[in-house]
Amino acid sequence: MTLLEIFPSLRSGIPSRLDSAVWPRDTHYDGDGRITLGGVALADIADQYGTATYVLDENEVRARCRAYRKAFPEAEIIYAGKALLVRAVAEWVTQEGLSVDVCSAGELTIALAAGVDPARIILHGNGKSYDELNAALHCGVGRIVVDSLTEITLLSALGTRPQRVLLRLSPGIDVHGHPAVKTGVLDQKFGFPLGSDMADEAIRRIMRQPNLELVGMHCHLGSQIHNPDHYGEAIRRMIGEMARVREDYGHILTELDLGGGHAVAYRSGDAEMNLSDLADIVEDALDAACARNRFPRPNIALEPGRAIVARAGVTLYRVLSVKHIDGGHTYVTVDGGMSDNPRVALYGARYGAVVANRHPCGPQLRATVAGRYCEAGDILATDIQLPADIRPGEILAMPCTGAYHHSLASSYNSVGRPPIIAVRNGRARELVRRETTDDLLARDIGR
Ligand SMILES: Cc1ncc(COP(=O)(O)O)c(C=O)c1O
Repeated sequence: MTLLEIFPSLRSGIPSRLDSAVWPRDTHYDGDGRITLGGVALADIADQYGTATYVLDENEVRARCRAYRKAFPEAEIIYAGKALLVRAVAEWVTQEGLSVDVCSAGELTIALAAGVDPARIILHGNGKSYDELNAALHCGVGRIVVDSLTEITLLSALGTRPQRVLLRLSPGIDVHGHPAVKTGVLDQKFGFPLGSDMADEAIRRIMRQPNLELVGMHCHLGSQIHNPDHYGEAIRRMIGEMARVREDYGHILTELDLGGGHAVAYRSGDAEMNLSDLADIVEDALDAACARNRFPRPNIALEPGRAIVARAGVTLYRVLSVKHIDGGHTYVTVDGGMSDNPRVALYGARYGAVVANRHPCGPQLRATVAGRYCEAGDILATDIQLPADIRPGEILAMPCTGAYHHSLASSYNSVGRPPIIAVRNGRARELVRRETTDDLLARDIGR
């Protein structure tokens, strides 16, 4: 008999621990007090596939895609491959009607291997190489987002058939995010400052090339944006610029790609983007800006970024040791860390974690979850509540780890990267296997 069976009232406290803003909707406690995701106990996944392990809820990814399609029925929704690109995810998002943005030949190859229609692929990046542009032209990607004058030269030299392009403009909007993800301000490495001579030069050069068709403008405001007003301002500026292009060049642009990633909650209480507020602001701003400039309404594309996959992912770790420092912290060391989740070290990101193999009833302690890597700064979570009797062998689950975990992971300390296990309707399946020491040695070819 389990504790929950003896004390059913304990269940009433459960939902507050698994906040649906942070965890996938299909996360529950089972009768043994274990956390289940997509109908599968996380502790069972840890036992079968080992730890550290990324778990990904397919239904959650699909539900997020559908939420976007419903909120923006007329818009193109573009999935950011950089957040997490493996063939299965590319398949899920395109089956749900999304396009895919890639920013390297590697991401392009994965998208194509997943069967994504090249016409629904958008190539981004401030440093596209000759080979990458060639590969994109060769397979016929839908659009290339032009980011430099050099790129225009390369594209014109390489192109043998018409290629649709967007021009990336920095609209001069500061969303006050982390400096590493500020992409809307004028002075930055991406794109051309809106209103600059360089942007005009790019427009002229593209229009002179018979194989390049300038169909629209792209902007990207940053990451983790929760205030939809920034998009209203971006629309005002970008439509104003598109109207100026019509006046100066007699050329009507028909696409506006409103990039800028939508905020997700990593921990309870974090702000996230409200889709219906965003939809209202986009509609109103478009109506007003198009009317003011007497400009025909362009097709809109949105790039939600991590908001499609972040909440669908949960990372599992096994506790290796528990150390109480007199007058200091309690360190719960796990078998993962900064190589499977570099976001803490990169951006100062904050995460929560809960014990997944039993319900955390009883006394709690304040803990620091430490990674296993040889850096004092390898800390995954600080000041979190864990059972006071937490012990080695137990499983910790860290939510909201679906985006920029697998894609940013390294094999630091020669620890292989974790597998990705997809869950759906009570079944688990391996999407990506664990990286082994043999994999690492296979690349070590010189002696
Ligand atoms: C063009 C483009 N699209 C999408 C994204 C992803 O946005 P997020 O950081 O919210 O995942 C980025 C992030 O840098 C980007 O540059």
